[in-house]
Amino acid sequence: MSRILVVCLGNICRSPLAEGILLHLKEKHQLNITIDSAGTSNYHIGEAPDARTVANAKKHKVDLSPLRARQFQQSDFDNFDRIFVMDKSNKRNVLNLARHENDIAKVDLFLNLLHPGEDLEVPDPYYGGEEGFEHVFNLVWNASEKLIAEFK
Ligand code: 4NP
Repeated sequence: MSRILVVCLGNICRSPLAEGILLHLKEKHQLNITIDSAGTSNYHIGEAPDARTVANAKKHKVDLSPLRARQFQQSDFDNFDRIFVMDKSNKRNVLNLARHENDIAKVDLFLNLLHPGEDLEVPDPYYGGEEGFEHVFNLVWNASEKLIAEFK
């Protein structure tokens, strides 16, 4: 059993997309894992994911419509085994709440699944155009498949 949390800033673009893709792959492969997402900010608490992210994911047969934004909290270190962040700023914000080495060891950049140790970031698509959302979908899909392969 593994409990996985994906984290970005707003919890309306990148991390709900990762949550939706991971849930889609969990279902497809009938895996016994827990998936959730959160944002480091309080900007969008309770909101559905960004309509552009929802529409792009839908094109790829991934349903984000049931998801709602919540804020990352210190108790997430107790409730999850692994915490994946989308960029270095998310990582700093999450690590600011870490209490000890055990918490710190749970945190890594999501794209390190694809490119270990390179510390690449999933860009924030919020202020860009449709091609940004497509690019983010592909990055997050590929990293998610890599993660899911560990549990097959
Ligand atoms: P996310 O994107 O962190 O991928 O959910 C953002 C969404 C909203 C904002 C920033 C990033 N915002 O500033 O409202």
